[in-house]
Amino acid sequence: MRMYDLILKKRNGNELTDDELDFIINGYTNDEIEDYQISALLMAIYFKGMNERETAKLTMAMASSGDMIDLSSIGGIKVDKHSTGGVGDKTSLIIGPIVAACNVPVAKMSGRGLGHTGGTIDKMESIPGLKTSLDTEEFFSIVNSIGISIIGQTGNIAPADKKLYALRDVTATVDSIPLIASSIMSKKIAAGSDAILLDVKTGSGAFMKTLDDSIELAKEMVNIGVNTGRDTLALITDMDTPLGFAIGNSLEIMEVVNTLKGCGPKDLTEVSLELAANMLVLAKKGTLDECRILAKNVLENGHAFNKLCDMVEAQGGDISVLNDFSLFEKSPIVANLISDRSGIITYIDAESCGLASVSLGAGRTKKGDDIDYSAGIVLKKKIGDKVNKGDILAELYTSKEDSLKDVKKSMLEAFRIEDRDIKVKNHIYARITKDRVYRMYS
Ligand code: URA
Repeated sequence: MRMYDLILKKRNGNELTDDELDFIINGYTNDEIEDYQISALLMAIYFKGMNERETAKLTMAMASSGDMIDLSSIGGIKVDKHSTGGVGDKTSLIIGPIVAACNVPVAKMSGRGLGHTGGTIDKMESIPGLKTSLDTEEFFSIVNSIGISIIGQTGNIAPADKKLYALRDVTATVDSIPLIASSIMSKKIAAGSDAILLDVKTGSGAFMKTLDDSIELAKEMVNIGVNTGRDTLALITDMDTPLGFAIGNSLEIMEVVNTLKGCGPKDLTEVSLELAANMLVLAKKGTLDECRILAKNVLENGHAFNKLCDMVEAQGGDISVLNDFSLFEKSPIVANLISDRSGIITYIDAESCGLASVSLGAGRTKKGDDIDYSAGIVLKKKIGDKVNKGDILAELYTSKEDSLKDVKKSMLEAFRIEDRDIKVKNHIYARITKDRVYRMYS
């Protein structure tokens, strides 16, 4: 087989066979095919697309390019959850404990922040002492004893995706639905769960900016999951505005705790409960309505909060911070963002808030940067709120005094304040199963 012929075949809009896709992924993983030829192929895929079979095959080839985790020593149906990434998205740390409190094992590998979006592992590491890198034996033993463990991705999960993603990033081929779908699903499949819930974010702070594109991506990923033997569902949820009030690592942990204690923000609580209920459906705990009740019960009776404490303790973290937020390290500077006009807030741009939070120190601008766990933003107003000139719109936490002036400017631009009322939108737009797309359900 020659790579030249495969590029030509895809460029002309033809299907690649299973053997050809294996040849490409194996050759690229083993450094036998050069970046320039793979770049050309990626661009051909970007323009000509891939059918369902090709996408499923590409996914499996990438999944099996490295370690495939075997979770069979953990009893029960293991359900994984993946969010396509957002701002203020701390749902994994709320849903995991809810699902575990309903006796469904959670053995989850999560990622770090990427660009303007935060990552579960960075958030967890803001808890003093908490380890997110455990060996497999310890990881399984914690899941078997307390029902939940969340750790960082091990080194050799889907190495083909790692190489391809880095190349896509510099060849303008990231936003291709078959390429995103296979990239995400290859890692989920290698992580070994029996079922997968996808939270596909849509809006300014997400990869997919429109609902139609988000639904297309979700359908593609659900098909891949089902075609590779994993029960898979997707929800499409809002990422036009940040989820909850807190953006930044320890600030988000405090909001996770408040939500698990039943006094979290309404949008975050609603989205988390719905995601948890769908994970419980995948774990065969009942109908969607029954699972909604199960999820709500463990939130209300404190069992889910106790699970979070159990997990933090088992992974070496200091649980006293979860009960006394004053024990978290504090930012030296807390500045108020003051409204320069009166009116109703009609929009808060998620991407701008995410970028502002990175500038305050909560994220990385290049690989390996240290992050400031105490930095970030707490919104004081949300869409639909009335504000007067001089009101506080947000608190900015940082140790970087130099960045404050620019951050204040961009954050003021992120708030749209108008002289009109606005109906607050539902945060969940659609549910995608292998057979159907249910739009705007609540
Ligand atoms: N996240 C991934 O892991 N891959 C993509 O292609 C996009 C988002």
